Amino acid sequence: MRTFAEIGAAVIGTGFIGTVHVEALRRIGVNVRGVLGSTPERGAARAKTLNVRHAYASLDEILADPTVDVVHVTSPNNVHVPQASAVLAAGKHVVCEKPLAMTAAESAGLVRQAEASGLVNAVNFNIRFYPLHQHMRGAIAAGELGEVRVVTGHYFQDWLLHDTDWNWRLEPEKGGALRAVGDIGSHWLDLMAFVTGQPIVSVMADMATFVHIRQQPTGPVESFSTERSTDVVARTMGTEDVATILLRFDNGARGSVAVSQVSPGRKNSLQWEIDGSGGAAAWDSEMPDHLWLGHRDRPNEILLRNPALMGPAGRAAAALPGGHVEGFGDTFGALFRAIYADVAAGRPSADPPYATFAAGHDEMLVNDAIALSAREERWVDVDRSPAPEAPR
Ligand SMILES: NC(=O)c1ccc[n+]([C@@H]2O[C@H](COP(=O)([O-])OP(=O)(O)OC[C@H]3O[C@@H](n4cnc5c(N)ncnc54)[C@H](O)[C@@H]3O)[C@@H](O)[C@H]2O)c1
Repeated sequence: MRTFAEIGAAVIGTGFIGTVHVEALRRIGVNVRGVLGSTPERGAARAKTLNVRHAYASLDEILADPTVDVVHVTSPNNVHVPQASAVLAAGKHVVCEKPLAMTAAESAGLVRQAEASGLVNAVNFNIRFYPLHQHMRGAIAAGELGEVRVVTGHYFQDWLLHDTDWNWRLEPEKGGALRAVGDIGSHWLDLMAFVTGQPIVSVMADMATFVHIRQQPTGPVESFSTERSTDVVARTMGTEDVATILLRFDNGARGSVAVSQVSPGRKNSLQWEIDGSGGAAAWDSEMPDHLWLGHRDRPNEILLRNPALMGPAGRAAAALPGGHVEGFGDTFGALFRAIYADVAAGRPSADPPYATFAAGHDEMLVNDAIALSAREERWVDVDRSPAPEAPR
């Protein structure tokens, strides 16, 4: 078994989340060999800012580098599949950002390729790796909430509120036909299936676009940037600002989620509540070290994230003692520690705690059902019939 320090990684994409990948890899001791930007010049400039030793000029250069064992794909959604597929074909392990693909048809092929390769394949559903989520999955599996009955919540942001807000996610050919659902709803949907252990089997979705015309700057725009260009072109929007979705889970539990990128004041607010026959639990991303536990016949509790008070999976994901808040950036470290344990062993483990490509594909199938449901204004079952096996 190799140590993390003996493993080399390269990161494709040097924007908002590529930067977080580089930092988290360094924290767990993996060697970041270099980064690849959208152009060699841009990559070189970002490599300098990030203090990364090398800017690759092309994906081919990464694939030909024998010191790179793992490639992280953090580019826009439309290039995830071709890039991840090329990485696997070159015999390297791959960590891909969410959503895994533009459509489930695309991701199905990628899952087959990944499984045939025997290489480690992971989708960056980092929110699973808040330690309290790892803990809660184990607690629910052990029956601590009884039968799971109701699963509710939201994922709200406000960074696309104004018609002058622009990002590649607003272009369906780069972001996909689903925008708010694909971009942030995918995290919530993956998370709830993971924590409850119950796949989503049926959906009824309603979607709305409120900002019909947006002003697209003629130059490039970084995600979440607040700089605004004066040189713009008016674009008509087809993808959703908001989605409200009713859900049915495999065990009969019912749920609902609201997803929005136009909710003033909500920068990045993910909340959930799970109500069972024997108790409830709730979590809010703005207080990520707090887990609310609801009881009918005794006072409610708050579990403050604490390795000493969580189950084994929660303890494994925690890096700091209780009272020392862990947040968004820390989830990448916890997720990468789990992924790189498999990389060090040279192959995926039997039941990885991280989302594999199969899990990423399963989430794409839920997205496809949501899109069809909204289009036809009816309940739609998630069609897993042609899908590869056992995602979670
Ligand atoms: N897991 C999370 O919490 C999380 C958060 C944000 C974004 N993401 C995902 O990460 C991906 C990137 O999002 P972002 O917010 O960092 O976007 P971004 O626009 O900030 O960065 C994208 C980067 O990719 C580069 N790029 C574009 N085309 C490329 C190509 N063909 N080859 C190589 N590089 C290319 C751009 O130059 C830019 O550096 C998306 O798939 C998004 O859904 C995930």
